[in-house]
Amino acid sequence: MILKFISLLNFKNHGNLKVDFINEVNCFLGNNGVGKTNLLDAIYYLSFSKSYYNSLELDNVKNGEDFFMIKGLFMSDNEVDSEVTCSFLNNKKKVKFNNKNYVKLSDHIGRFPSVIITPLDSKLVLGGADERRRFVDKTLSQIDNNYLVNLISYNKILRQRNTLLKKFIINSVNSDLLATYDSKLSELGTRIYLRRKDYTAQLAGDIQKYYDIISQNDEQIQVVYKSELEQFSFIDLLNQNRKKDQILTYTSSGVHRDDFIFSINSQSLRKSGSQGQQKTFIIALKFAYFDLLKSISNILPLLLLDDIFDKLDNDRVEQIIKILNNNQFGQIFITDTNFQRIDLIMNKVNIQCKYFMFNKKGLYEKKFKN
Ligand SMILES: Nc1ncnc2c1ncn2[C@@H]1O[C@H](COP(=O)(O)OP(=O)(O)O)[C@@H](O)[C@H]1O
Ligand SMILES: [Mg+2]
Repeated sequence: MILKFISLLNFKNHGNLKVDFINEVNCFLGNNGVGKTNLLDAIYYLSFSKSYYNSLELDNVKNGEDFFMIKGLFMSDNEVDSEVTCSFLNNKKKVKFNNKNYVKLSDHIGRFPSVIITPLDSKLVLGGADERRRFVDKTLSQIDNNYLVNLISYNKILRQRNTLLKKFIINSVNSDLLATYDSKLSELGTRIYLRRKDYTAQLAGDIQKYYDIISQNDEQIQVVYKSELEQFSFIDLLNQNRKKDQILTYTSSGVHRDDFIFSINSQSLRKSGSQGQQKTFIIALKFAYFDLLKSISNILPLLLLDDIFDKLDNDRVEQIIKILNNNQFGQIFITDTNFQRIDLIMNKVNIQCKYFMFNKKGLYEKKFKN
């Protein structure tokens, strides 16, 4: 799938921008703050019908204006054109596919898939367990609808159980209802656990494949799934902790507390990994995710790379470009502050590349790689 054209009206710093893309690599270049990431985010918006960076729609409207609109022209792998329009006007968000409003926004998701890699992904390594769980949950929800259904039900029952635990202090113990919740929670939680375990078992190998190419070092990746369910059945955990949960007034055990430990040569990536190792790991993880998404959706997702070459040595940057050149990816969008570096590297590989040069006033030059 290819994004042929995009137009932005009042989206963040872009008042009126129209851009034609090429099928291969599109680079947004310029100094900090000129709107490269904002343009990338507009592409992400067309894909997910929301911004990657701002959850508040008003923040996406250009200062001083009262609406924004993003329009994209996509071409599917069998060359059918379709138009997606996302707009925010009068506090209302609208997403249109070929000029028709969606009944449910969720129907749009997955139609024009994309994978984004951004500096914010460092949270996957440096952040808390919830960041890693969210990534795994998002990945599994995309490839397995049963997982998503189980996860939604699990979270709902977990909330109900916690509400009940809060009431215990005031009311008499309603242990029948608690037992019903526990039974349901353990059933759903165990399914979630097994699916996560299955995914984690293959993840290290998938990451390793890309990590090896980028780092060119002999370093061993490990991904360990950390869950209390490794040791005890969920129902036993809930029973063991029932008194404690009543005092705490929340559910202290279960798959909502799981973590995933990333290591290189048995050393924690978070505690001991260099910045380069951490960054390489995240890029390899995202490439592995791209492969997974591609294999289940049969559509080549767009690849959005926001400043990923920053703080990587030239050897690693070159290896990443070689991976991108390997034909397994489709259309690629790259932001970078350093035109010379990008041009030097791009000229080493046989890949079509179009440069979009931005300054404070906006897009001022377009040119193809020589
Ligand atoms: N709603 C908005 N209205 C106007 N300008 C905005 C809005 N949101 C962000 N910006 C501006 O966009 C610029 C950042 O753009 P960004 O795409 O992150 O830059 P970069 O080129 O460094 O990736 C900042 O100068 C910021 O003030
Ligand atoms: Mg940026």
